[in-house]
Amino acid sequence: MPAHYTRLQWKNSQPYSEQYDDVFFSRAGGEAESQHVFIAANRLAQRFAGRQHFCIAETGFGSGLNFLLAVQCFLEHADTGASLDFVSVEKHLLHPDDVAQCHADRPHLKTIVDELLRCYPPAAPGMHRCLLFDGRIRLTLMHDDASHALGAVDMQVDAWFLDGFAPSKNQAMWSQPVFDAMARCSHAQTTVSTYTVAGVVRRGLQQAGFEVQKVPGFGDKREMLTGRYNGGRRRARQAPWFQLPRASGDCKQVVIVGAGIAGLTTAHQLAQRGCQITLVDCAAEAASAASGNPAAIVMPRLTVGDEVYNAFALQAFYFARQQYRKLQQSSQQPFWFESGVSTAVERERAEKMLDAAHMASAFLRLDFQYATKTERLWLRAEDAGWIRPSLACQQILAVCADSTRYVQAEVASVRAENHRHILLDSEERVIAEADCVVLANAHGLNALLGEQQYPVAANRGQVSLVEERDLLWRLPAPLSADRYITPALEGVACVGASYVDSQAASLSKSDHADNIDGVNSLFDRAIVSESAKQRLEGRVSFRAVTPDRLPMVGPAPDISDFKQRYRDLHHGKAEQNYAPARYRQGLYLNAGYGSHGFSQAFLCAEILASMIANTPAPVARPVLERLLPARFLVRELKRNRPRTDSVSPDRCQ
Ligand SMILES: Cc1cc2nc3c(=O)[nH]c(=O)nc-3n(C[C@H](O)[C@H](O)[C@H](O)COP(=O)(O)OP(=O)(O)OC[C@H]3O[C@@H](n4cnc5c(N)ncnc54)[C@H](O)[C@@H]3O)c2cc1C
Ligand SMILES: C[S@@+](CC[C@H](N)C(=O)[O-])C[C@H]1O[C@@H](n2cnc3c(N)ncnc32)[C@H](O)[C@@H]1O
Repeated sequence: MPAHYTRLQWKNSQPYSEQYDDVFFSRAGGEAESQHVFIAANRLAQRFAGRQHFCIAETGFGSGLNFLLAVQCFLEHADTGASLDFVSVEKHLLHPDDVAQCHADRPHLKTIVDELLRCYPPAAPGMHRCLLFDGRIRLTLMHDDASHALGAVDMQVDAWFLDGFAPSKNQAMWSQPVFDAMARCSHAQTTVSTYTVAGVVRRGLQQAGFEVQKVPGFGDKREMLTGRYNGGRRRARQAPWFQLPRASGDCKQVVIVGAGIAGLTTAHQLAQRGCQITLVDCAAEAASAASGNPAAIVMPRLTVGDEVYNAFALQAFYFARQQYRKLQQSSQQPFWFESGVSTAVERERAEKMLDAAHMASAFLRLDFQYATKTERLWLRAEDAGWIRPSLACQQILAVCADSTRYVQAEVASVRAENHRHILLDSEERVIAEADCVVLANAHGLNALLGEQQYPVAANRGQVSLVEERDLLWRLPAPLSADRYITPALEGVACVGASYVDSQAASLSKSDHADNIDGVNSLFDRAIVSESAKQRLEGRVSFRAVTPDRLPMVGPAPDISDFKQRYRDLHHGKAEQNYAPARYRQGLYLNAGYGSHGFSQAFLCAEILASMIANTPAPVARPVLERLLPARFLVRELKRNRPRTDSVSPDRCQ
C-alpha cells in the first residue's frame, strides 16, 4: 500500500486516473451525477429524517465528492442530535491540495470541504477516523485495498455507495470478496446503488444476497443499479470468546471512574454522542495522578514485525494529534507542540524500522542532525510532538463541561444490581449508579473488582525539572531514548523518566541522577550541567502497565463464566464447538496505558464510545481484539497456565 498521497491527474479539465484510464466523475457533471446515483437513489433525504444514527459505506473515496454531498444532505435533513458514520475505502489516497482543487468551484460545499481538510488523514496506510462538526459526522477513511479493508471490519451499514472505476478497468474493486463483505455488514433495510450495470456487478451482488434492479442512469448513461439486502443475517467469523454483546446504543447516562487522560477522553467522546457523564475521581481535580506530569512526549511507539501493533500505534497517534489540534484552537494557553521528536534507536532495530516502507516514508526518517557515540541511530519522527498534560486535560474537561459532572469520591467497589452498576465507597454508601460504567482508573482497577482481577501493575516513574539556565544546549524539539528531555518552557525543561517496580511515592535523588545521566549519555557533550543535580525539582507518579504493553479497552468479561466455558481451550478444539462468551453487560474497562497514554487514549476512548453507542468501530477487528480486556484470559486458557504477572496493589494513586 502506498505510504504517500497520490497526486491527481487532469484530462480535459476533469479529474482523471492514468493508472485506471478512467475519469472520477461523469463529464456531464460530477455533482449532479453523485446526487442522482448515490444520494437520491438511496433516498437519503427521506431516510435521514427521524433517525438518530445513520451509516453509509463507500468503495472509492476519491475526491470525497459523494461524502460531501451525503454530509450536506444529512445536515439539511437529519435531526440536530443525530450523527452520521461515513466509512470509505481508498487505495490511492489523494493529496489534500488535490481534494481542495477538485472542489474549489463549489462554494456551496466550502464549509464541509474546510471541515474535511482540517481533519484529513495523514498519508500513512490503514484506518483513520476524522471527526467533523464536533464529532457529529464521523468519517472513517481506510487507506487500503477494498477487499482487504472490508474483510477486517464489522459494522452495520444502512446504505452502500459503490464507486470504483469502471469494472472492466478495476476488477479488484468489484470482486466477490467485496460483495460478500458488504453482505456481512448489511441488514434487511440496507440499500446499495452504483452507476454501473455491468454483469459482474449485478451477479456478484445477487450472489451475496442483494436484490438489484436497473433504474434510469444519469446523463448519457441509460441505466444504473439500485438494490436492497435480502440475504439474511450473517455474522463475522469471530472467535466466540470475542463475540461482544451489542449495546442497545441508547445509553445516555454514563459513569466514568478516573479523571486522568483515559477517563477524560472517554467523557469527551461520549459527550460528542449526546451522553451525560458523571466523572468520579478521588482527587479534587482532574489529572492529579500520572496524567498530571509537566510534559509528555506524544509519539507512537513502533515495533519491528508486529503489523497490528504498529497499525494501532500509528492510528492512535494521528487521531490524538487531530484532537489536540482542535482542542488547542479553542484554548488561549499553548499546550500542544508539533515540533517533531528525535529518538535514538539501537542500530539493527532502526534499520529494520526504516525498512518497513510504510513507516519510513510516512513517519520516520534518519535524523542527520544528531550523531551519537553509541551504537544507535537517530530517527526523526516528523509528525510527533509534545504536550503539557494537565493543561490538555483541563481543556478536554472545559469543552465537555456542559455534559459532565465531576464528583470527588474514592470508589471502593462496583456492585451489579438489575442490569445497573452501583459504585460504593468504603462504607458502602452509593456514590453513583448507571446502566453503563467505564472504569478508567488505571492500576486502581482491581481494587474495585473483587475476585475479577486483571493483569495491570503499577510502575513508578519520576520526572526531573531542569531550570533553563542549567541547559547547555538549546533544544528545538524533544530528544528521546531510554530517557527523554523536552525543550524549556516558561524557564523549565522536563527530563524523564525513571521506570521502577516500586510503590515509593517520594522523590528519589538517585532517580534524578539517573534521569540526568541518561540524557547526558546520549552525546559526547552533556545537555544538562552537572551542577543542576543540586537543585532539581520533580514529580513521582505511577504508570498502569499490562503484560503486553497495550491498554485494556472494551467490555469486562464475566471471568468465572469464561474460565468455566472455555476451560478446555488448550485442547485446541475448533472454535465452533464453543458458545459465545458472557460479558458483564454495561461494564467497560479503559486502563493500562503504560508510558503512552497521551498518544493512545483518544483513539481508545473513541473505540469505547463507538461500542457504547453501537456505531462502527474506528479500528479494524484485529486491532480491536488486541485491546479487549478478555485477551489475557483467552491466552491463559489456551496455555492452560494461570498468569504469573503481578497484579496491582489496592491503592488510589
Ligand atoms: C513519569 C512518567 C512519565 C510519562 N511520560 C509519558 C510521555 O512522555 N508520554 C505519554 O504519552 N505518556 C507518558 N506517561 C504515561 C501517561 O502519563 C499515562 O499513560 C497516562 O497518564 C495514564 O492515564 P490514566 O487516565 O490511565 O491514569 P491516571 O492519570 O493515573 O488517572 C487515573 C485516575 O484514577 C483515579 N482513581 C484511581 N482509583 C480510584 C478510585 N478507586 N476511585 C476514584 N478515583 C480513582 C486517580 O485519582 C487518577 O486520577 C508517563 C508516565 C509517567 C509515570
Ligand atoms: C470513480 S473514483 C471515486 C470517486 C469518488 N467517490 C468521489 O466522490 O470523488 C474510484 C476510486 O476508487 C479507488 N480505487 C480503485 N481501486 C481500488 C481498490 N482496489 N481499493 C480501494 N480503492 C480503489 C480509486 O483510487 C479512485 O479514487
